[in-house]
Amino acid sequence: MNVHGSLRVPGDKSISHRSLILGTIADGDSRIRGILPSADVHSTASVLRTLGAEIPDLAPEMVVRGSGLRGLSQPPAPLDCGNSGTTTRLVAGVVAALPIRATFVGDASLSRRPMRRVARPLEAMGATVELPEHGGLPMTIRGGQLHAVDWTSETASAQVKSAILLAALIAGVRAEVTEPVKTRDHTERMLAARGAHLTVHGEQVVIDPSDRVDATDVVVPGDPSSAAFFAGLAAIADEGSLRLENVCVNETRKGFFYQLRLAGADVREENRRMEGGEPVADLIVSPGELHGSVVEGARVPSMVDELPLLACIATRAEGETLITGAGELRVKESDRITAVVDNLRAIGADAEELPDGMLIRGSSRPLEGRVLTHGDHRLAMAFGVLSAARGNSIAIDDRDCVAVSYPNFWSDLERVISL
Ligand code: S3P
Repeated sequence: MNVHGSLRVPGDKSISHRSLILGTIADGDSRIRGILPSADVHSTASVLRTLGAEIPDLAPEMVVRGSGLRGLSQPPAPLDCGNSGTTTRLVAGVVAALPIRATFVGDASLSRRPMRRVARPLEAMGATVELPEHGGLPMTIRGGQLHAVDWTSETASAQVKSAILLAALIAGVRAEVTEPVKTRDHTERMLAARGAHLTVHGEQVVIDPSDRVDATDVVVPGDPSSAAFFAGLAAIADEGSLRLENVCVNETRKGFFYQLRLAGADVREENRRMEGGEPVADLIVSPGELHGSVVEGARVPSMVDELPLLACIATRAEGETLITGAGELRVKESDRITAVVDNLRAIGADAEELPDGMLIRGSSRPLEGRVLTHGDHRLAMAFGVLSAARGNSIAIDDRDCVAVSYPNFWSDLERVISL
């Protein structure tokens, strides 16, 4: 399989969610360009509408009318977050700081995901949170007057950090959040750009009260987690190279590209610039002699969504690839440790499950069979990339689940491949 040409992947999912939420709580109109029109971002838009926000249909250029920090109101119905953990946890922070009561619901996968991690800090700030025994959805939050908090997170989660920062901002109280490892910092960048009082010292973020945030135009850069699939594809191609344009290259999101380079692929950055408060660049990726590598816990947050893909790429590398300190993978859209290892074995690869990661031994033998995505978009795309490698033939049970983050994935994949 050869690759060729250039590709502009869709807008960053994390920044798209945040642009809607921050646009809603700002004073004035925010113009958003390049928002990702995927199922998860639709969930955030529709949840905010249920809370009374004026959000038009998602479009390449759209305007969100802000109603100020405390402009949202009692929802008339449960907040349906679909498959989206980011919608649930970030909006939980918003609801906790308002005098309203809201029940969060979602699909079967989201309903199983852990919500105590966000419930606990919000309760410590004074909100009331009801969860079922298993700690997932439905989750009911009764917000109110919150107080300041100094919170140390046990898990590195940008969603939890963002929920605390949003709750503190809206409630007008101070919050200090310390993470075990620094996670994606889009919320901090966007809040600071809108005039919030924020200080960051390594893994600690402090927010002090302000009585408003400014409306700011947003240009959403390309999603590095989506670009990763094409970087992975180019790395395992026989020949050619791919130019991935306009990708967000924020340090907290770049781990996969670093790891790919470490494994022997040729990954270059060109045309680096700042756009909308985020570093952006074009990535040029070509194949290399891939070999095994090690991913340790400290690097996991910067590539957490790309680890299923890395595992698939590792089957084409010489030697062992070891991923550890990645227990969080078990509580994503699926248990991404068991699901990836079971699927790799089902197609004839050599993979072993570890409590907090996996071990993959590469080979050049063709991989064939059928994989089960469990409705997990990133599994569908990771195995889609692996299927394109020479000699492989992999059927995917549910190709449509890519709509969660990358609706045009299959046509983009077809466009850059030549046999
Ligand atoms: C996200 C944070 C990460 C990531 C998810 C998006 C965000 O989740 O896996 O896809 O936008 O804040 P965690 O906060 O659970 O690590």
